[in-house]
Amino acid sequence: MERRVLVLGATSRVGGHFVDHPPKGWTVESAGRTDPRAQGHAVASHTPLDLSQEEAVRSYLRGTTAKAWVNFAARTDVDGCESERPSSPEEAGSSAVAGSAWRINAELPRWIAEEAERAGRFLVHLSTDYVFDGLRGPYPEATPPSPFSDKVGWYGYTKGVGEAAVFSSKGPRTIVRIAHPYGSRAAGRTDLALTLLSKRKEGRVYPLYRDQRITPTWVPDVSDALGPILERGASRIYHVASPEVTTPYEFARTLFAAAGLRTDDLTLTELSGQAKVPGRAPRPVRGGLLVTEIHKLDIRPRSFREGIRELVGPAPVGG
Ligand SMILES: NC(=O)c1ccc[n+]([C@@H]2O[C@H](COP(=O)([O-])OP(=O)(O)OC[C@H]3O[C@@H](n4cnc5c(N)ncnc54)[C@H](OP(=O)(O)O)[C@@H]3O)[C@@H](O)[C@H]2O)c1
Repeated sequence: MERRVLVLGATSRVGGHFVDHPPKGWTVESAGRTDPRAQGHAVASHTPLDLSQEEAVRSYLRGTTAKAWVNFAARTDVDGCESERPSSPEEAGSSAVAGSAWRINAELPRWIAEEAERAGRFLVHLSTDYVFDGLRGPYPEATPPSPFSDKVGWYGYTKGVGEAAVFSSKGPRTIVRIAHPYGSRAAGRTDLALTLLSKRKEGRVYPLYRDQRITPTWVPDVSDALGPILERGASRIYHVASPEVTTPYEFARTLFAAAGLRTDDLTLTELSGQAKVPGRAPRPVRGGLLVTEIHKLDIRPRSFREGIRELVGPAPVGG
């Protein structure tokens, strides 16, 4: 029997792949600002919905009969979110300063979690390793989001507040944290790999961090993990990310080599100890995610090397 999954954020890098590759036996109902069908995504139905409007969101959720809800919607522009950072987290909730990062990343997950609990639906909420301050990564699943500090960007802080709201819900719910997703073909969106490849082709590769620890997520792995997660309805935190930790420098070098592009002119820099750049959010230095729990579902997220091979194809002969 076909079951329906509601997807919020079906036009996102990660959600777009999921709606194009739904788990066997599930059909997708979408709600959000942009119709994913206009971008070539195959969803069974779409309802226009501004996810920053609490009453509209609650009313939609009260009407849907979808058995499970997956929330990919977020404001992900890390430096854009930083421009909305208040001087203290207490200020964030006041309507006078509530920006779109607070509404979409912190409040929307709470509205959804409350409605899912009320209706007894299974909720899967996507999150990020940027909820951590980057002092001790890669992080195990049970690590709670870091508190407000100058080490955590406003994007990461608001995502941490959203996670906490979902986690404290008494209904069945799962948080799936990912990191630096790449390998999506979502219209009009870029990612770590696409940005590096386009800079390489323009001959303008920026200096690459050699000290930042990252565990990039191969986007198709998220879609593959969501099937078993939906089937089990387990209430847990899962990480879907490269089991092998890397750095932006090593990721770029591996990517360019696999694509048969030049690597001998790359320049290096360090993230740690960098002076704060106005308008630029802090990034986790020792970031990344450990993938212990997802292995228990027999799901093996690809290492960044495997993901890169899938992205660019077999290594060039002699390369
Ligand atoms: N991007 C990253 O580097 C990264 C890293 C780790 C974790 N994550 C997490 O992974 C999840 C998916 O991220 P992503 O990068 O795939 O997202 P994305 O490409 O930036 O897309 C964001 C989605 O949210 C929707 N949205 C935002 N504001 C909305 C509003 N007011 N009303 C309706 N829809 C709205 C967007 O719809 P429109 O098409 O209408 O704009 C879009 O579908 C998020 O939870 C994110 O925090 C992302």
